[in-house]
Amino acid sequence: MKYSKKTHTCGELNKRELGRQVTLMGWVHTRRDHGGLIFVDLRDREGITQVVFNPGVAAEAHRLAGDVRSEYVIAVTGKVSPRPENTMNPRLPTGEIEVIVSELTVLNESKTPPFMIEDETDVAENLRLRYRYLDLRRPSLQKVLMTRHAITKTVRRFLDGSGFIDVETPFLTKSTPEGARDYLVPSRVNPGMFFALPQSPQLFKQILMVAGLERYYQIVKCFRDEDLRADRQPEFTQIDLEMSFIDQEEIIGLMEQLLTAVVKEVKGSDISLPFPRLSYKDAMDRYGSDKPDTRFGLELKDVSDIAKASDFKVFIQAVELGGQVKGFAAPGMSGLSRKEVDDLTNEAKVFGAKGLAWIKVTDGGFESPIAKFFKEGQVREMATRLGAKPGDLMMFIADRSRIVAETLGYLRLLMGKRLNLIDEKKLNFLWVTDFPLVEWNADEKRWDAMHHPFTAPFDEDLPIMATDPGKVRAKAYDIVLNGSEIGGGSIRIHRSDVQSQMFGLLNISEEDARKKFGFLLEALEYGAPPHGGLAFGLDRLTAILTGSQSIRDVIAFPKTQKAICLMTEAPSRVTPVQLRELSIKLDVVE
Ligand code: AMO
Ligand code: AMP
Repeated sequence: MKYSKKTHTCGELNKRELGRQVTLMGWVHTRRDHGGLIFVDLRDREGITQVVFNPGVAAEAHRLAGDVRSEYVIAVTGKVSPRPENTMNPRLPTGEIEVIVSELTVLNESKTPPFMIEDETDVAENLRLRYRYLDLRRPSLQKVLMTRHAITKTVRRFLDGSGFIDVETPFLTKSTPEGARDYLVPSRVNPGMFFALPQSPQLFKQILMVAGLERYYQIVKCFRDEDLRADRQPEFTQIDLEMSFIDQEEIIGLMEQLLTAVVKEVKGSDISLPFPRLSYKDAMDRYGSDKPDTRFGLELKDVSDIAKASDFKVFIQAVELGGQVKGFAAPGMSGLSRKEVDDLTNEAKVFGAKGLAWIKVTDGGFESPIAKFFKEGQVREMATRLGAKPGDLMMFIADRSRIVAETLGYLRLLMGKRLNLIDEKKLNFLWVTDFPLVEWNADEKRWDAMHHPFTAPFDEDLPIMATDPGKVRAKAYDIVLNGSEIGGGSIRIHRSDVQSQMFGLLNISEEDARKKFGFLLEALEYGAPPHGGLAFGLDRLTAILTGSQSIRDVIAFPKTQKAICLMTEAPSRVTPVQLRELSIKLDVVE
């Protein structure tokens, strides 16, 4: 097989190269027979170029081209020529030229692909994932992977320039508590023992600070066995970093610079600094979410005071039980049918709400099954507070604050989308700060760390850690982009006595703490510097910056919702011999 060099990519030829002899190599995107002439759109990762086989110019190449099919890999040599005026394609960068082929080599044949390689596709995702190598030939997916590369390249350049050192940390390790289940790996040479794949490099990066590295980063795989969603994968990538001798403000400032560099690189645009900030409390109060999408309004308002004075038992009771009544107004939605309101109510119930109270604002007044429980003035007061105008639909939830927040937070997003209030071009970065250190786990009747157990409390809140833990604020910060949590971090506890106190608060016995994190507790006793850091979710960041619906679209080989790789068919069974070597007996019903 003859194999000369590729002189150009399929994305770069234009009028400047007219008359030149070129060699292109790539995949047959489409082939059209036009009365003697054969046209092939030749595709490589840089673009598409039309190549023409004319029997009068090269009879042998034309004969061969007759047998070429979609996705064959070919090499063509020929002359760059202008396209006839009426066949120019202004949508293609190469649309003004074509290559008149003098020589064709078929480098490889292809079976008929199970689906067309094109950007607009309605092919089922499972089929695409099964043939991921074909799916990845789609220009849009290739572009996404290139953007992902541009992001990591920029991150590395920025962090290198800021004194960070890339250090690898183990994958075969002990459990790191980030709140998910561990993936376990049996140790053959230590029968009955298991490694855990890291949920994050959290403990190692802290130890690197104790080791005196001062500034660490890693673009690293993390593993979490949790229920999957569009923005969650069992293995995903963090841009993970840690710094010594810094405070929250310095980290936040540096991370804003980093994100600015990334956005500049992939979007070519500047973002305004500093990013807005919201305390956790304000985020929950105003948006019902700790990762609010601030690209639109529809803020939630508390009407507990008015509700309490009404005759509506549901509302009164909720407030009396320590809960609240909150709501927001959806502009122009008063026309919703009874059925549509019922559908909304059912969606609200998914979040534990007992119902959805609604009031339509009309030109004449108000319309609602619950209006009779309110004095006219009270309804008007609620409308004023919600900023509701005639034509709007006011929606209220009465319950414990958590359910109110989750339900209304969801309904707000739903309405924002339905009403087209979201400007997709916006990049709204937001810091959420001042998280509570711990939250009450009502099921297990204990305090859980809100971030992870190594996050430092506010210094001024230390005295109430024992007496009023729920009020203690953490030096933790999340970075949110367009309503998605793209990163989070904290200043860490660097004193072993405070760390022990934290474990005590979380009801982790001294013995348990020693067993699980003894190495960290010990390290903290050998001159641990004050330190803190953050980790971005690279997949989520890339998905948002590329406008992808799911992080599966920005990962070369993602897993399905059932945590399966359809291409390799992992996970899979192993042989009895392998199991015996690992001293493992299965208890699985076939
Ligand atoms: P956290 O658990 O918040 O923090 O993780 C950091 C970021 O990683 C992303 N992320 C995920 N992305 C895809 N699939 C998942 N299953 C998944 N889980 C998390 C999110 C998240 O914001 N060690 C700490 C960081 C620190 O304190 O420095 C940590 O892992 O975007
Ligand atoms: P009911 O009195 O149970 O028939 O409820 C009257 C209206 O209030 C219905 O539209 C219910 O969906 C709604 N509703 C019931 N419970 C709640 C609640 N906890 N919060 C908001 N609305 C509710």
